[in-house]
Amino acid sequence: MTRKNILVFRELPDDQLARLQAAHEVTVANPRIDAQRASFDAALPLAHGLIGSSFPIDDALLARAPLLEVVSSVSVGVDNYALAALHARDILLCHTPGVLDETVADTVFALLMATSRRVVELSNLVREGRWTKNIGEDLFGFDVHGKTLGLLGFGRIGQAIARRASLGFGMPVLYHTRRPVDLAAQAPELQGRALFTARDELLARADFVVAMLPLSDSTRDMIDASVFDAMKSGAIFINGGRGATVREDALLAALESGRLRAAGLDVFATEPLPDESPLRTHPRVTPLPHIGSATHETRHAMAELATTNLLRALAGERPLAVYDTASA
Ligand code: DGY
Repeated sequence: MTRKNILVFRELPDDQLARLQAAHEVTVANPRIDAQRASFDAALPLAHGLIGSSFPIDDALLARAPLLEVVSSVSVGVDNYALAALHARDILLCHTPGVLDETVADTVFALLMATSRRVVELSNLVREGRWTKNIGEDLFGFDVHGKTLGLLGFGRIGQAIARRASLGFGMPVLYHTRRPVDLAAQAPELQGRALFTARDELLARADFVVAMLPLSDSTRDMIDASVFDAMKSGAIFINGGRGATVREDALLAALESGRLRAAGLDVFATEPLPDESPLRTHPRVTPLPHIGSATHETRHAMAELATTNLLRALAGERPLAVYDTASA
């Protein structure tokens, strides 16, 4: 088989890099790192395949890659990619659905628990030597079990969150998506447990509103002041999807007004979160550095799937997970 040129634009585990190197010529260059930028720029015009994540593969970048046949993202989200340009040039876009669902659901549940039981705040109280008497009501949390969970977005990850909530914590689960999910086919264990609900009814009833929305033109800024205003007073908001689906100014206003009790955020409009963002230090925000899928096992599984996708595409075989760029 002809050896082609692959540009790896974010670190890959050694075993996956070795799979690529066995079949093709490989350049590893992360354009986010100044010292590697020139090497990235030199390899791009010759690249038949790109693999990596967390870097915008936009129109301008694609214009510098005339030989490109496939982009393999080590992520399920595809918001970093110029979908229309990829489609117009017939460049395959592969991604990694399926292998990260349970891990991201674990992260979201960690945020539910941390915000409602004030885990970080109270742990800091101990660490900082401020645990000098039994804690009083002012530091009590709120129960998670039995509370109502409202999910905005109900794909595979949303369903994994719903399973934890319903089967593990006895929580009624409401979800809102463009159309109801066929639970009998996709998640039979959630039949009768997760209910398709009109958005405003969900917002009015949920104790926890969890956003698991992909980022697209139709979801950008979707969670705005009108959404926070429609939430039950004292609700907790969690975002495990994409930061730019939320108007962060509206989120802060909802925290300040007391409409929201707390927020748990794994994603932000700008990442890494800028120093000056009030969300970084807000006392009722639990921020995480986009760790949804960041476990050793899952990040390896994602890298392995992305590598397989790329190798198959370059060999003229059908990759295991292709994103339909025509649907954008
Ligand atoms: C993804 O795969 O899109 C996740 O956000 C990475 O954690």
